[in-house]
Amino acid sequence: MKNLLAQKTLQFAVKQNEAARSAAEHADIIAEPGFGKHFTDHMVDICWSEMGGWHRPRVQPYGPIELDPAAAVLHYGQEIFEGLKAYRHTDGSIWSFRPEANAARMQRSAVRMALPELPTEYFIEALKQLIAVDSRWVPSAAETSLYFRPFMFAKEAFLGVRPAKKVNFYVIASPAAAYFTGGLAPISIWLSTNYARAGKGGTGAAKTGGNYASGLVAQQEAYEHGCAQVLFLDSVEGKYIEELGGMNVVLVKKDGTLVTPESDSILAGITRDSILQLAEDRGHKVERRKVSIDEWRDGVASGDITEVFACGTAAIVTPIGRLVGADFEAGDADAAAGPLTLSLREELTDIQYGRRPDPHGWMMRLDA
Ligand code: PLP
Ligand code: COI
Repeated sequence: MKNLLAQKTLQFAVKQNEAARSAAEHADIIAEPGFGKHFTDHMVDICWSEMGGWHRPRVQPYGPIELDPAAAVLHYGQEIFEGLKAYRHTDGSIWSFRPEANAARMQRSAVRMALPELPTEYFIEALKQLIAVDSRWVPSAAETSLYFRPFMFAKEAFLGVRPAKKVNFYVIASPAAAYFTGGLAPISIWLSTNYARAGKGGTGAAKTGGNYASGLVAQQEAYEHGCAQVLFLDSVEGKYIEELGGMNVVLVKKDGTLVTPESDSILAGITRDSILQLAEDRGHKVERRKVSIDEWRDGVASGDITEVFACGTAAIVTPIGRLVGADFEAGDADAAAGPLTLSLREELTDIQYGRRPDPHGWMMRLDA
């Protein structure tokens, strides 16, 4: 659904939060942010209607959203979201990593979920407006960041099943440390064979809440088996690896080739795309193709696959040590993280934190 007023410049109204956290409360949160637990003092809210297009952009105090109990999102799940971070550089400046790519992916998700496409310049302006009032929430300790969660949902109160005519876009932000609390210790992954994440022609490539809701029961199985994440297989043959519940997966072969699943039912990760680009820049061969679960299992056993890692905005690059299935285990829970995994992670985070040049022009300054 194209928006009607894409060309109009958005003038944000700003309402300061009179009940913003005190300096002491702020210091406590920033000292130990965790992941997704604490939120800044403000949020962005932009309305959309079929007749009026995008309008009424606001920065307002962070707080509950009033919803009619008949709001379509509560019944039919018409919702999409994004995830990206703001990084503080040593000179104090605040930068984001490839935000246009997140804006573009949100547009693709919107098309799939029959939601209006938010123009890229509005998406980026929303991040800048939030940083203008909440910059103190971008932490500066190593490996910390401010995690932005842009999201959009059907607000219209109507129980007929059709795309909503009233939608809102929001951005909230959360100071964040590592997603996995074990640092760089390799994680264990549970292979789900009872549940698929996405079907052919379904919503797997969109970043929409339903994909995560349908994966929760499998994630629960993963926890029960001592694993941090769940690996989903394709739903047609149940043979090819797709992705984890909240991140992409990459295998490294003995000869240095990086292999990652190609599928139209997984999320096109921006971290994965960037990591593979950095590997290609170093001369590594990269294969984007179908990867069977047997290739992973047998490759680890034979030594042909030497490293496996997960990647995503929240996970950054996280080594995978062990794959656990109902009747097998591959890899070693106590294995050290692979050297290529670690050096690609370092290169990516060095770019994000401004510690080395940004050869692809991925960084965008948000506070100037
Ligand atoms: N796959 C899923 C299901 C995700 O939720 C994410 C995280 O956003 C990713 C992959 C990785 O995407 P990105 O690197 O753009 O964060
Ligand atoms: C992200 O990495 O941004 C995600 O949305 C994944 C989720 C596990 C937090």
